[in-house]
Amino acid sequence: MDQEIPITQIIVLATRNTGKAREFQDLLGPLGYKVLTAVQAGYDKEPKETGKTFRENALIKAQSVAAHVPHSVLADDSGLEVEVLNGAPGVYSARYARLGAKDSNNRHKLLSVLGDQTNRRARFVCVLCFLEPGKEPQYFEGLCPGEITKEERGTGGFGYDPIFIPDGETRTFGEMKPEEKNPMSHRGKAVELFAKWLKEK
Ligand code: IMP
Repeated sequence: MDQEIPITQIIVLATRNTGKAREFQDLLGPLGYKVLTAVQAGYDKEPKETGKTFRENALIKAQSVAAHVPHSVLADDSGLEVEVLNGAPGVYSARYARLGAKDSNNRHKLLSVLGDQTNRRARFVCVLCFLEPGKEPQYFEGLCPGEITKEERGTGGFGYDPIFIPDGETRTFGEMKPEEKNPMSHRGKAVELFAKWLKEK
């Protein structure tokens, strides 16, 4: 553990994804915070995402780590909501085709379920849950509205990126560089709200 950093300045991320951890570190580092993954903080289990909402899942993830580390914990949950599917796949986005599905299976399923449907409105949602020891959880939500394409375009990003065009753009997220996608993404917007809250705290 880093000795120079006061214990309150450490934020543990409830994710195994080192890419996400790096993004959070880049953003929160300049504010004086050190971001560690749960594994780096000595906890390596992942809870089952049994919640029915992004908030519930983010809280489940945050609490599972907070029970094992003495630091503040940040968890995120995200997914894609499609208007004509009443918000599906939603919290089931990662396992839309089946449990353990590859991203490409999920994209193919969504394109075939939508078929020639003309209403292709959708939005990405990201909810962050920040848990400080002894305090009420704080939530930050980012939305990114757009349209589902009829075929895949681009190989960048992950998940549904190659079939999602954010509003105001002609390219899919899969055709964009991370530095183009991140500021307009649901995750980017949620993180921005969180960073603003931390600064004002
Ligand atoms: P999680 O929040 O990492 O559990 O992500 C849930 C699922 O939502 C992912 O597996 C993707 O299928 C989808 N998803 C979330 N954010 C994005 C994104 O930025 N691009 C594409 N797919 C995403």
